[in-house]
Amino acid sequence: WEERSLRPQTLSQYIGQKKVKDNLTVFIEAAKIREESLDHVLLYGPPGLGKTTLSMIIANEMNVNLRTTSGPAIERPGDLAAILTALEPGDVLFIDEIHRLNRAVEEVLYPAMEDFSLDIVIGKGPSARSVRLDLPPFTLVGATTRAGMLSAPLRDRFGVVSRLEYYTFDELAEIVERTAQVMEVEIDKKAAEEIATRSRGTPRIANRLLRRVRDFAQVRGDGDIRIAITKEALELLQVDQLGLDEIDHKLILNVIEKFRGGPVGLDTIAATIGEESHTIEDVYEPYLLQIGFLQRTPRGRIVTPQAYHHFQLEVPRS
Ligand code: ADE
Repeated sequence: WEERSLRPQTLSQYIGQKKVKDNLTVFIEAAKIREESLDHVLLYGPPGLGKTTLSMIIANEMNVNLRTTSGPAIERPGDLAAILTALEPGDVLFIDEIHRLNRAVEEVLYPAMEDFSLDIVIGKGPSARSVRLDLPPFTLVGATTRAGMLSAPLRDRFGVVSRLEYYTFDELAEIVERTAQVMEVEIDKKAAEEIATRSRGTPRIANRLLRRVRDFAQVRGDGDIRIAITKEALELLQVDQLGLDEIDHKLILNVIEKFRGGPVGLDTIAATIGEESHTIEDVYEPYLLQIGFLQRTPRGRIVTPQAYHHFQLEVPRS
């Protein structure tokens, strides 16, 4: 409940992602003028950057209902048919992890997206017949960590394709201040900036750290969030200067210690640190690539000199 209300409700409250926001503002306005449903929207990018929030905002700005589901939750064509036939005109259907839809379900989605129609088979064997149902016009908002994981026919059916980027330091500091205001807690500018620095470009992480720091401020301080208690809390939470956590550390240090900095394959890294390959690829690696600690080469991942410096280790001679 609190989690929901902390989120921005309108595009004007939403901080950052300027390009995505500017485009959506125009498309939403145009759809409203024409009294049409908004074209289907694909949002992609690393987790925690606001894909779900944007889907809520789109529904809110269009004054329609939001129906939320996910790729893995829709197991059979009938599951999707049930969702689609329950929609009201103009509704937003949000499918998270849309790259995980199976082929049979995807096939039902194509005519639904393109013609707002649903082909269903009734009965079995020789008496089976196919029926075409009209659906109300709706907007599909799909979210995925990487657009490359989507099949081409599905990707091609989205009229709007937007990539979410990591947030800047200033944007994250502003988000922390906004969230603190919504939580009705006092925060110093310095404290907000400290949290921003350690949030890996990700609002979800920033707001999570803010909640934990607020806990410390409430129990160990007077409730106000100041720089000293913020630093103390973040130290105890084992979030380092760059916001890297235990798993980031483990990943980098493993490549350094076991593979002399690489190159080493993703699956090998995954096996040695006990994480799934796709979790590393979607969740941990993008930020480490972004800050230049890790590089992808045809022969595998390598750790850069910057990463050695961060851990105060000597770069090995080749
Ligand atoms: N909370 C989380 N993400 C946000 C954003 N992009 N703008 C404002 N508040 C947020």
